[in-house]
Amino acid sequence: MLSEGAKREIGALRARYPVAQSALLPALLRVQEELGWVPPEAMAEVGRLLDLPVEVVAEVASFYSLIFTEPVGRHVVQVCTNVSCLLSGAEAVRERVERELGVRAGQTTPDRRVTLLAVECLAACDQAPCMLVDERRYGPLTPEAAARLVRELD
Ligand code: FES
Repeated sequence: MLSEGAKREIGALRARYPVAQSALLPALLRVQEELGWVPPEAMAEVGRLLDLPVEVVAEVASFYSLIFTEPVGRHVVQVCTNVSCLLSGAEAVRERVERELGVRAGQTTPDRRVTLLAVECLAACDQAPCMLVDERRYGPLTPEAAARLVRELD
């Protein structure tokens, strides 16, 4: 499932740390870079490469919201709905983005252009309400500014 290059890089990551588990997060990110998400087969492969039980790999993969354990669209929009953002209008932002995309949080547009997620704190509470668009964080956002951001993707 993984390319030979990815397997080599994951092996090199393993050699960089005294404990195999320390290489797990960068290995999962490498898988995601290659496949766009981390399917169960890739978790098993990472487990074999790092000599870790697949259950440990799955635990770590499912803990981090930046690791996708389901297929996602070409862009991933993550709206923070934790306390600071909630108190600053995150629900209005989420609803406006849902209306713009025509999907609910947790869904992907039918053309697979965008996956919309409601997530916990993005560690930018002073910029509430905020959202992450692929790897870039935006905030504070008005609902209209958030809608414009997703409209202008691609
Ligand atoms: S609560 Fe939204 S970034 Fe912290």
